Amino acid sequence: MKLTEEIEKRRTFAIISHPDAGKTTLTEKLLLFGGAIQTAGAVKSNKIKKTATSDFMEIEKQRGISVATSVMAFKYGGKQINILDTPGHKDFAEDTYRTLTAVDSVILIIDCANGVEAQTERLMEVCRMRKTPVIIFINKMDREGRDSFDLLDELEEMLKISVRPLSWPIGIGHTFQGVYNIYNKELNLFSANKTKIAEDVVKIENLEDPQLEQIIGEDATSELKEELELVEGVYDEFSKEDYLNGDVAPVFFGSAINNFGVKELLETFLDISPSPIGRETSVGFVEPENSDFSGFIFKIHANLDPNHRDRIAFLRIVSGKFERNTFYNHVRMDKKLKFPNPTSFMAQDKSVIDEAYPGDVVGLYDTGNFKIGDTLTEGTTVSVKGIPSFTPEIFMELENKEPMKSKQLDKGIQQLTDEGVAQLFVQQPGNRKIVGTVGQLQFEVIKYRLEHEYGAKCDFVPRRYHKACWMTTDNQDQLDQFIKAKSTYIAKDKDDNYVFLAETPFLLQMAQQDYPDITFHFTSDFKVTQ
Ligand code: G4P
Repeated sequence: MKLTEEIEKRRTFAIISHPDAGKTTLTEKLLLFGGAIQTAGAVKSNKIKKTATSDFMEIEKQRGISVATSVMAFKYGGKQINILDTPGHKDFAEDTYRTLTAVDSVILIIDCANGVEAQTERLMEVCRMRKTPVIIFINKMDREGRDSFDLLDELEEMLKISVRPLSWPIGIGHTFQGVYNIYNKELNLFSANKTKIAEDVVKIENLEDPQLEQIIGEDATSELKEELELVEGVYDEFSKEDYLNGDVAPVFFGSAINNFGVKELLETFLDISPSPIGRETSVGFVEPENSDFSGFIFKIHANLDPNHRDRIAFLRIVSGKFERNTFYNHVRMDKKLKFPNPTSFMAQDKSVIDEAYPGDVVGLYDTGNFKIGDTLTEGTTVSVKGIPSFTPEIFMELENKEPMKSKQLDKGIQQLTDEGVAQLFVQQPGNRKIVGTVGQLQFEVIKYRLEHEYGAKCDFVPRRYHKACWMTTDNQDQLDQFIKAKSTYIAKDKDDNYVFLAETPFLLQMAQQDYPDITFHFTSDFKVTQ
């Protein structure tokens, strides 16, 4: 098969949601449709139960589960679908952000009773930044929830994206009868059933079709007509182009647990979602059709076997064809590497593959060659841009508890931060190490792993920073002055970029006022500015 055909049939996306909105359930239903699993309950929830937030063994268990479910591939309707899993726990949000760099679109799930929640907003911010196309699935319509128009308003307001319903619910909770599929002009009738796959679908000509009233009743029919009239009046015609540009999010309603609305979601998704998109690189945009293979590492999963310190690096293929046992350039290290056992992930089975194509994710066994963001190429040496670091929320200074073991500690913290467990900022004088994370849990992970894998003991001392800010300017003198004047708050990140560790919002504001030529950024890819 030609490269273009392989590309066209692939869809690589992530399902994202606030915990408990139904990500695991929807993933499972999609896998059931694809025939990748046979029974419900086969997908383990990749979330750390609320009761176990500080139980390290629980984290370890989760790490085992999450490698198994990191990528779930299946075939449906002639398409090769790759779902990339994202951790549910908010302390692992960075991992999710990085995974979002490896997908071409996302499905965002909203709980119809809770609407937009904290985690939903953060995730959407990352999608907006990258202009990732988003489809929204409003879930749990079998339960009492909020008014649909109110929900749509909230989505637009809080997620700062235009929405366009492509299906419309008939009732909600105990009055829920199904949805009217605006896109296909079909009536999908609801029956609560957790095991069935097929839905009862009635094709109707238009809203005047007498079948409508016969099936859902007079009152529901007139309500549906009124609401659809309002929908058509308020929302613009659905434009696939706007969706692909990340400007409008089509919305579906359903109930994942009851398998309801899932098929139409999947089919519309396959119809409108983008096939693998190229990536920005050091030499410009690389299209997937480019025959030279290129790909980047967006996730590293370590500690599969603590005795061997082996890791799996997850490679997203950007262009060309990847082949087993072929030498590729590791651009950062300027080194040729080949991979005898690259793995693909078909649902929960791992298997060695001989070749892979743009959009695919391949697991590479690694003995410490890779960092997050590394590029592998064939032919020209390009590096893929855009695995951003985000400002951490919690900062701690790393203190060595055993001075004789400082080498082990240095090596350990370096490797753990290369894996993306946390960010490391080094301050001078004295090489002081400030570790930044988005959640408390990572400090436990680091402490445990430093001790068990590297034999180094450490303590963490809280540092009350508000944000880490990357800086850009056209006025180098002003930046030099700033770095000198604020030296106690300046550190360097893993790529040797200067970072300002602002203690409070006020001090950041002062810095912006006093040094107007410097722009302060909350991510390392300099797109989101303060
Ligand atoms: P998550 O991965 O986003 O965290 O959510 P998950 O799928 O685990 O779903 C969270 C809870 O919501 C689960 O209940 C699940 O059964 C329920 N749920 C998912 N979709 C629907 C739906 O369409 N309608 C209703 N009523 N509930 C839904 P749980 O009690 O936490 O877990 P479980 O004991 O049912 O597994």
